[in-house]
Amino acid sequence: MSRPANTQKFDNCLIQWIDERLPIFTMLTKEYGVFPMPKNANYLWSFGGIALTMLIIMIVTGVFLAMNYTPNTALAFDSVQRTMRDVNYGWLLRYVHMNGASFFFIAVYIHIFRGLYYGSYKSPRELLWIVGVVILILMMATAFMGYALPWSQMSGWGATVITSLFSAIPVIGDGLVTWLWGGFSVANPTLNRFFSLHFLLPFVILGVVFIHVWALHVTGSNNPTGVEPKSEKDTLPFHPYFTVKDSYALVTFMTIFLSVVFFAPLALTEPDHFKHFNPMQTPPEIVPEWYFLPFYAILRSFTHDIYIPFTDIIILPAKLQGVMGMFGSLLLLMVLPWLDTSKVKSARYRPVYKWCLLLLLVSLCVLGYVGSQPAGGSLAVVGQVATAYYFLHFIVLVPVLGFVEKTCPVPASISDDPCCKH
Ligand code: HEM
Repeated sequence: MSRPANTQKFDNCLIQWIDERLPIFTMLTKEYGVFPMPKNANYLWSFGGIALTMLIIMIVTGVFLAMNYTPNTALAFDSVQRTMRDVNYGWLLRYVHMNGASFFFIAVYIHIFRGLYYGSYKSPRELLWIVGVVILILMMATAFMGYALPWSQMSGWGATVITSLFSAIPVIGDGLVTWLWGGFSVANPTLNRFFSLHFLLPFVILGVVFIHVWALHVTGSNNPTGVEPKSEKDTLPFHPYFTVKDSYALVTFMTIFLSVVFFAPLALTEPDHFKHFNPMQTPPEIVPEWYFLPFYAILRSFTHDIYIPFTDIIILPAKLQGVMGMFGSLLLLMVLPWLDTSKVKSARYRPVYKWCLLLLLVSLCVLGYVGSQPAGGSLAVVGQVATAYYFLHFIVLVPVLGFVEKTCPVPASISDDPCCKH
């Protein structure tokens, strides 16, 4: 059998035999082995691979947890307790899955911040970025529904609060909430659909990640200079250089992750997550998982209804503003490639933007703290200022800086970068 065009020759005859029929090894060599990576990519470029590893860990542990889980409001809580106590290594499966969600978000948040810092969302990677934001939204939906499954006080009340937000939508809101719940309160039909979707969505995410990486392999990776590779001198084959580098980053990340799993598995969880859901008793505070806190704080920052001037007619209730603010904060990321007017990609050469980004990070941390505290009081104002900065950053600073910022000289090529003289 003659070799199809575009395939290569392998020494191992079994590999050769398979490749002639299904050129998977040719594809692996091209897309992984000799794939040209900018030679100056730093450890922040390891977080895509780390996120992918976390996704696989979440799917594998999730499938085994599902074998022992019962999606029924009368049995769900006990089935989780049984997994922890009676199932062989059930405690390990659950702790890896619970904490894995947090570490998955840590990896993805660092991955996004890398993109913001080095301008990886700009042309020609706009679509890659948008697909990334879709992944983020899917991850949030999956994590939210997963948190409901143990049917604890936090599960039930968290699900009630967040799904009730849709009631703020004019005209269809109340009907929509009833439809989402499958009844007139968060109950058995809600738990069933959450379980079904929580099982399905990670596989959807896996498919979208495939598209994400496909788009990446069309444009190639960005790098700390933001200057596209000009010649072979600017790149190195992915293997072995980045295999070794990414493996080192992965092992370090996993060491931290497993230290939490084994030595502080409950550090990131609310005590009310260990009490059975009681629809007749609201917990004193309903606190979402840490990775939702900044968005939760944005939601709660809108406290005043907007009236038609000189009348009592409300045109925009505070609750609806909050919902729009929360979803808007994510949708803004989608249009970021077109909001940023700067010709220079990397924040390395953007002295003002660098500070603005740092302020954005600070405001997100402040929002995270505010979201973890009881609503109201003087902290509410702090949350409102941080929310204002979040929107100001994307809607005003990012577009305006592109015109007014005096950038530093950008190297002509990666090899001309003084930080990269080797
Ligand atoms: C399940 C979650 C995700 C996985 C598994 C994933 C995977 C990857 C991988 C393997 C890469 C190449 C390695 C690297 O550059 O780090 C990459 C690149 C990239 N990702 Fe993601 N990603 C995820 C989520 C996101 C999100 C949420 C965004 C943005 C909102 C995003 C934006 C990007 C961008 C812009 C690049 C190109 C970076 C560059 O070349 O500088 N990704 N992703």
